Amino acid sequence: MIAARNGRPGRARLAALGAYVPERVVTNADMERHVDTSDEWIVTRTGIRERRYAAPEQATSDLAVLAAEDVLRNAGIDAAEIDVVIVPTCTPDHLFPSVSATTAHRVGARNAAAFDLQAACSGFIYGLAQATALVESGIARNVLVVGAEVFSKILDMSDRGTCILFGDAAAGALVTSGDPEATAGFLGFELGADGSQAMDICIPVGGTRIPASQPFAPDQAFLKMNGREVYKFATRVMEESIVRLLDRLELSIADVDLLVAHQANQRIIDHAVKRLGIDESRVFNNLERYGNTSAASIPLALTEARDAGALRPGALVLLVGFGAGLTWASCIVRYEPE
Ligand code: ACO
Repeated sequence: MIAARNGRPGRARLAALGAYVPERVVTNADMERHVDTSDEWIVTRTGIRERRYAAPEQATSDLAVLAAEDVLRNAGIDAAEIDVVIVPTCTPDHLFPSVSATTAHRVGARNAAAFDLQAACSGFIYGLAQATALVESGIARNVLVVGAEVFSKILDMSDRGTCILFGDAAAGALVTSGDPEATAGFLGFELGADGSQAMDICIPVGGTRIPASQPFAPDQAFLKMNGREVYKFATRVMEESIVRLLDRLELSIADVDLLVAHQANQRIIDHAVKRLGIDESRVFNNLERYGNTSAASIPLALTEARDAGALRPGALVLLVGFGAGLTWASCIVRYEPE
């Protein structure tokens, strides 16, 4: 419960990770049945081989609950100890109520405040920044951040420029209050937004600009993207954001043990890796199996990096993302799990 400052603030630390992916695997061969595309084109241009789709009855909160339960299990913490649940998502169950309130209720986080966070694919890092601020101000001790998305239900399956890119998943982290003197924890964030390119990724209908109650062409309820413009934006801001953050923290890319970038397109990640000069052995990707899962992509990759032994206790981890808004975000954290 966050009614007031809860005692002496500690240093925010990344205490646990967790994830859930739906069972249904959709391969590039399946995509060839919807649109004029090929496995070869998708793999060469994006690096994606398959993605997961939620079942028809699954909404975003259903995925978020399962990921949140995984985080709580890994943290060994009771849901009643969670002070705040943040769900970064751009595919909520409804415009309101929030996915976070539903998720908090269903996992038994009965003492938690809850809010959704709309920064698209940058949302998980924005959520970590919020969690860090809440913990280090003394307002909260335990904050659950769960990125959750069901993109399969907002995709135009006749648009080959977008439908091949996205998948469904939920994944997250527990941010807790640690030793104020510790060197582990969140060292810094660099967040930004440029609304001048807002309509380069959007869903035109369903908000208050064009309400769903008004007549509209059916395709306007689906995700629209100007892929080339977003590509240019992504390759520029990922590098710029990382350089600004490293400079501010007086760190160099050589200090980074692991880079986990938003899993949108292998070419975008490769571009950043090359420009920054970080060795590929220190980069973890799982894009080929999930596609772009937006706010879930970074925590999903982090969770799999942990399982693969690529994310080790004590590692200095660099996270970076970009997405609709347009937004970008990067973060450096010294990983010390429970
Ligand atoms: N299969 C075959 N051909 C295709 C496909 C496809 N799936 N999609 C596009 N093409 C064609 C185009 O029609 C075009 O044909 P044309 O030259 O005859 O017009 C040709 O391929 C090249 O198209 P480009 O758009 O230039 O292809 P590009 O190499 O840029 O790849 C892509 C397109 C993958 C969408 C790329 O631009 C991209 O990844 N952009 C960034 C998108 C992104 O990362 N978004 C993340 C944010 S999403 C969020 O926040 C919710």
